[in-house]
Amino acid sequence: MNRRDFLGKALVYMPALGVLALAFPFYYFINSLYSKRRVEIPINKINKRVVFFKDYDIFIVKVESGFKVFDAHCTHMGCILNYNNKDKLFECPCHGSVFDLSGKRLKGPARKPLNRLTFKIVNNSLIIG
Ligand code: FES
Repeated sequence: MNRRDFLGKALVYMPALGVLALAFPFYYFINSLYSKRRVEIPINKINKRVVFFKDYDIFIVKVESGFKVFDAHCTHMGCILNYNNKDKLFECPCHGSVFDLSGKRLKGPARKPLNRLTFKIVNNSLIIG
């Protein structure tokens, strides 16, 4: 293929690549709007102080006044946090951020606390979202 052919094909495919480059962020934006779904978790499934619900990527923490619900994604770059039961901390496996059970950031590089999710209790279930 000579340079003229290459440039000719590049002019044909470049707009398609541009459309694809715009389509993916648009798709993820639209998908995120519709994926904020309602989650219902029976209270009897919260059988430890901290329970991770993998299907929803949430942690539910039992506290004296009831429950706290956290998005399990690290506020640095979105990795799923691990719960360290021995130290009672949420730890990020990616870059080492650490959060306590109230969601407060103890160690960076994350700068923000964990995202707390709102819920209500209806018929012995937590309705989240
Ligand atoms: S994604 Fe958690 S510290 Fe970077």
